Amino acid sequence: MQNFVFQNPTKIIFGKGSINQISGEIPKEAKVLITYGGGSATRNGVLDEVKAALSGYDITEFGGIEPNPEYGTLMKAVALAREKKINFLLAVGGGSVIDGTKLMTAAIPFQDDPALLLENAGSAIVQSLPMGVVLTLPASGSEMNNRAIISRKAVMHKLAIMNPFLFPRFAVLDPTTTYTLPVRQTGNGVVDTFVHVLEQYMTYPVYGIVQDRLAEGLLYVLIEEGPKALIEPENYDVRANLMWCATIALNGLIGAGVPQDWAAHRIGYEITVLYGLDHAQTLAVLVPAMFKILENDKRQKLLQYAGRVWGINKGSETARIDAAIAKTRDFFEKMHVPTRLSDYGITDKCIPLIVEQLQAHGLVKLGEHQSVTPEVVEKILRLCL
Ligand code: NZQ
Ligand code: ZN
Repeated sequence: MQNFVFQNPTKIIFGKGSINQISGEIPKEAKVLITYGGGSATRNGVLDEVKAALSGYDITEFGGIEPNPEYGTLMKAVALAREKKINFLLAVGGGSVIDGTKLMTAAIPFQDDPALLLENAGSAIVQSLPMGVVLTLPASGSEMNNRAIISRKAVMHKLAIMNPFLFPRFAVLDPTTTYTLPVRQTGNGVVDTFVHVLEQYMTYPVYGIVQDRLAEGLLYVLIEEGPKALIEPENYDVRANLMWCATIALNGLIGAGVPQDWAAHRIGYEITVLYGLDHAQTLAVLVPAMFKILENDKRQKLLQYAGRVWGINKGSETARIDAAIAKTRDFFEKMHVPTRLSDYGITDKCIPLIVEQLQAHGLVKLGEHQSVTPEVVEKILRLCL
C-alpha cells in the first residue's frame, strides 16, 4: 500500500426526512444563497422543503445552473451574492449545481479575476465561504469531496479543480429526493459511480487489499441495485444504497493509498465539450475500449476484476479479460447508457478533434503510467466507434 493522508471534513446527514435538519447546520444570522438547477427541485418539491426548513433565515435564490455548469452563469450568481452580502451557500441539486456552487464559494471573496481560480487545477484558492448541500442526484460524489468541474464553452474547455477549501461543510442525503430522477439520470448516476470506482481500482496491484475489497463491494452493489432503480424508482432501500454508494465512491476513501487512473474522465470532458454528451455517456463509451487497448498495463487488475466482480475464472487470460469487458459494456447498456460513439451519431471525424483538444489542454500523458499519449487516445477512440 502507498503512503497517504486522508482527511474528509464533510458531515453527512442521511435519510428520509433529514432536510429539516439543515437549520441546525447554518448559523441563524447567516445570509444564505440557495442555488439550484433548471427546475427539477422546484417541480418535485425539494426546494419548498428546503425553504420551509430555513424559515426565518435571510434567503436569496439563484436558479438556472445548467448541467456541466457554465462559468458565465456562475459569475452572475457571484455578482448577486456580493450585492446581497451572502455568507453561506446551499446547493440543492446534482453534481453540476454542487460544483458550480463550490466555485462561487471561492470566487465571491476573491479580489482578483475569478478565472485565475481555474488555473493550475485550483491551486490559487486560499479561502472560501462555507457551503452545504442537499443532494438530489447520486453520481458525482461532489457532495463529500474537494473537486469541481467547470465548463467554459466560449473557449471549449471543461476542467477540473481540486482544493481542500472546496469541501462542503455538510451534505443532506435524503434518498426520497431521487424518486423523480428520469431513467437517463438514474442510469448516468450508476455508470458514473461505477467508473469512479474503476478509476481508483483498475490500475496495478500495490497490495491495497482494503481498498480493493471496498471497491469490489461498491461495484457489486451497483450491479445488483442499479437495475432495480430503473424498475422501482420509488424503492427507498434501493435508492438509499445507490446514494450512499455514489458518495463513498468518490470521497477519497477508496483511492487513498492506491494508484489512480482518471484518463477516461479527462478524455470524456473533451467529448462533452465538443459533442454535448452527458458526463456518464462519455465514460460508458470510453471505458470498455480503454480496458481493451490498455490490457497489458492493467492485466493483473483486469483479471482480478473478472474473477471477483463477474465470477469469470475459466479460460485464457485474454478470454477472461474480454469477457469482463463485455460484461461491463452489457451492464452500462442495461442501465440505458449507450456505449458506442455511433449511438450518439458521432463518426471517426471526431478523433483528430478530441486529440487536438487534449493536446491544447496539455493532457498528453494520461493514466496511472502516463502511457495514454495522443497515439493511444486515437486507438482507444477508434475502438469506441
Ligand atoms: O437542472 P435540473 O432541472 O435540476 O435537472 C437536473 C439535470 O437536468 C436533473 N436532476 C437532478 N436531480 C433531479 C433531476 N431530475 C429529476 N429529479 C431529481 N431529483 O438531472 C440533470 C443532470 O444533473 P447534473 O447535476 O448535471 O448531473 P450529475 O450529478 O451527473 O453531475 C454532472 C456534473 O458533475 C461533474 C460532471 O463532469 C458534470 O459536470 N462531475 C463532478 C465530479 C466531482 N465534483 O467530484 C466528479 C465527476 O466525475 C463528474 O465529473
Ligand atoms: Zn465522473
